[in-house]
Parts: sequence; C-alpha cells; structure tokens
Amino acid sequence: MTEREALGRRRRVVAAVVASLLVLGPLAWFWWTSLVPANASVMDMGYPDTGGAPGATPGHGHTPTDGPGVSLATLAGPSGGDPDVALTLTADTGPIEVGGRTLDGYTLNGTSPGPTIEAEVGDLVEVTLVNRSVPDGTTLHWHGVDVPNAEDGVAGVTQDAVPPGGSHVYRFVVEDAGTYWYHSHQVSHAQVRGGLFGALVVHPPGSDEGAQAVAAVHTYGAVPTINGSAESLRVPAEPGDQVRVRVVNTGSGVLRAWVPGAQYRLLALDGRDLHGPGTVTDEAVAIGGGGRADLEVTVPDDGGSVRVRLGSQSVLVGPGDDAPDGDDPRTTLDLLTYGTPTDVGFDPRAADRRFDYAIGRRPGFVAGRPGLQWTINGHTYPDVPMYVVSEGDVVQMTLRNSSGQGHPMHLHGHHLLVLSRDGEPSTGSPWWTDSLELAAGESYEVAFVADNPGIWMDHCHNLPHAQQGLVAHLAYEGVDTPYLLGGDADNAPE
Ligand code: C2O
Ligand code: CU
Repeated sequence: MTEREALGRRRRVVAAVVASLLVLGPLAWFWWTSLVPANASVMDMGYPDTGGAPGATPGHGHTPTDGPGVSLATLAGPSGGDPDVALTLTADTGPIEVGGRTLDGYTLNGTSPGPTIEAEVGDLVEVTLVNRSVPDGTTLHWHGVDVPNAEDGVAGVTQDAVPPGGSHVYRFVVEDAGTYWYHSHQVSHAQVRGGLFGALVVHPPGSDEGAQAVAAVHTYGAVPTINGSAESLRVPAEPGDQVRVRVVNTGSGVLRAWVPGAQYRLLALDGRDLHGPGTVTDEAVAIGGGGRADLEVTVPDDGGSVRVRLGSQSVLVGPGDDAPDGDDPRTTLDLLTYGTPTDVGFDPRAADRRFDYAIGRRPGFVAGRPGLQWTINGHTYPDVPMYVVSEGDVVQMTLRNSSGQGHPMHLHGHHLLVLSRDGEPSTGSPWWTDSLELAAGESYEVAFVADNPGIWMDHCHNLPHAQQGLVAHLAYEGVDTPYLLGGDADNAPE
C-alpha cells in the first residue's frame, strides 16, 4: 500500500465513523432523553406552559424568584371528625370468576368490582385501603370526584404506592351528587384492567330518588361484564316506575348505550346532571373510557321490562324476564344540543389562561423504546407540557386530536365545561365532563375554573395509551410534590 492509498483508506474510515455518529448520535440522544430517571419528580418533567399569563413556574424553586412550593400533602381532606361513610377496602391479587372462566386479576374485599360506595352530598367519606397481596403496590383514585389533591390517589404524584402489608387512609367530603368510580392509579393499565376498581355513588341530600341501579361495565380478558357478571343485570321495578341506571364505563374504548324500542332521558353525564334533558328515541349515548352516563328508563305497563343495551350486554329493568331488543341505532345523541342552557357560574370567555393540548403521533422513543409515539403539542413523554395555573384562574383549553385514534381525555380534580366541538358551539345544557372522548380528527374547546389547588394528572384514559406516554399535568403555582416517580415505593402511576 502506498502512503497515498493508506491516507485514502484512513479518510474513508474516518468518514464512515463520522457518518455513523451523525446517524447514531441523534438516535442515542433521543433514546437517552426519552428515559425517565429512576427517581424523578413530575415537577422536573417537560416544560412549563403558563397559558399566556406571566408568572412563576411551579414547585421546586428552580428559578430564583420561585421559592420552594407548599407541599401538596398539606392539601388534604379533613383530618378530624367522625366519617359518615367508613369502610376498609382490602386489595388482593387473585383469581376472578367470569362467564364460567377463571382469570388472573385483582380483587377488593374479595370481589371485582369492589363494593359500591354510597354516600350523600356533604358526607365525610373515609376509606382505608389495605394492600394484602398486590406485589407492585397499589392506590385508589376517586375518578370524577373533585377531592383535595392529597386524597387523589396517584402514585408518585399525590402519594406513594401502598406496598404489600401497608395501608393508606383517604378522607374527603363529597360535594357533588353523581355517579363516579374508584380505581388503582399504580400500574393502572394492568391493575384496572385486572379488576382493581369499584363504583361510587353520591346521592343528593335527603334523597328520595326512587328506583335506581349501578351498571359498571368492564371487560375481563375478553369477557364483557356488568358488575362483574357476564349475565344480563336484572333490576327489579314496578310497572310505571322511572329508574335511573348509572352506567360506568371502566374500559378504554367507547361504550355505546341505547334503549331498544323505548324512549329514555339522559339525566347526567360524568357526575353532573344535565339541564332540561328531553326524551331520546333511536339514538345511543357514547360514553368514553372512564366516563359515566345516567339513563332514565320507564318500566312498561304491560308487565314486561325495558332493556338498556350497553354494547353487547343488557340491563333488564322491570318485573319481566324479557324486553324488546334491537341493534345499535348508529346515530349518537349530540350533547352539544341536548337539553337547555342554564347559568354555569363563571364566564368561560374571560379566560386568564389559554392552553393547547394537541395530540399527535410520530416515530420516536418513549422510556427507551422505539416506536410510533403519542405527542402532546409535538413533544413526547416525558418532555411534555406542565400546564401552570393560579388559584381562581378561568382556564380555556383547546384539545385537538390528529393522532388518527380516539382518546378519552381525563383531567383530575376538575370538571371541564365544553364550549365547542370543531368550532360548533354548545347550545344545549351545560355539558360538564371529566372524561371527554376525542374522536380522531376532532377538536374541543373547554373551560374550567382553577379552584382546586394541587398537581393534577391530565391524561388519556385509554390506560395503555397513558402507559405509552399520553400524560401531562396541571400544576398550581406554588404547589410542589414531595413524591417521586419510581423512588423507594416504585411509583408507576400509569
Ligand atoms: Cu380514572 Cu388518572 O384516572
Ligand atoms: Cu389515548
């Protein structure tokens, strides 16, 4: 080899190395930045978005003007006083019998779903969660109940996961009548799907509500169930009775509810009564993952029953063994125009902060895994926005979905008022939601009042999507969390 040939070869080697570095370097960088450190605070995650308002950043005292925040642990329910409703829920890993099959799953007090918790507006509820045998640890989140932040049950954000042998006491006053549910918020994509949940009903004060029933819809493995049974749910009632069926969609996909051959009314959505709900015929209610809908049906006078179809399952209301059946009407009740308007208690147009929550999809890394990732405002987890508000703010948020799939978006600790969908304004009853299904291509403008200080998750309730990183947080200025993702408790909220 001449000196010249050797030089040429060296140059080629150097060029190849440089070229590979140019390709691999950024890849390695993206891989590296997608990792969530073993002990990370959500306060260090991503970047603050102040929604157009000047202001400090939340928590941790990162900036010189900040000062350390107040710990969310101080934002708890009443520590004193006798509870009006008190119970212990013991979580276990264990077999579940559904539809003649035995599946691996999780139970609360030996069953899945766990017991339905019933309370009245104003009650102090005290739940002691005991983890007897859930190896990853567990928590309870009160989905749709706007509890004080320290009672919210999110591992790594509002508490440490309760280890096997441990316990945790939740205490909160229920202020809003409605249909809610509770579920684990530790490794929730596995624990909720495996059965670690139950229903929670808050009745109006001094209530004389008449006949009603809870129908918690869940799919165990491939077995669709209502209240843990693959059979139809029977609700005894007399001819002429009006019965409120409280439907809870504990799954990830949209649940369609309809009443074959009879009229019904949609009384409430996500724990908020609708105003002036009219009769509905031949339309289905679409309930997004985590959402609830209260349907009112009337028992026929002929001694038969009326049927509420919940996907492939049925609720039979009345004395009879049978009721008319029929396929999904395929038209969907439009909540933008259902019911009549009434005061919402604030002016949503006078927003102090405006945020975008735009869901997209692109190739990248999340948690070191390559793939097609969910994005929020173009960023992938954990580099996601931290929406920053101050107590008392009126907040507007525009949710957009260009990801090609539907997402049930759930903000903790608050109810959102829908202002418009795809630019079309809401003109019916105020439409309050805590679990808003965004179909592919849709956009919604929503508003809420920042009246519940804390650090709150704002995530997709298709729980595998959350685990894949479709998660952001809402943080109140000056509030900090002492808990860590990972950490000694191995906190893993998704
Ligand atoms: Cu139903 Cu973040 O949860
Ligand atoms: Cu999703």
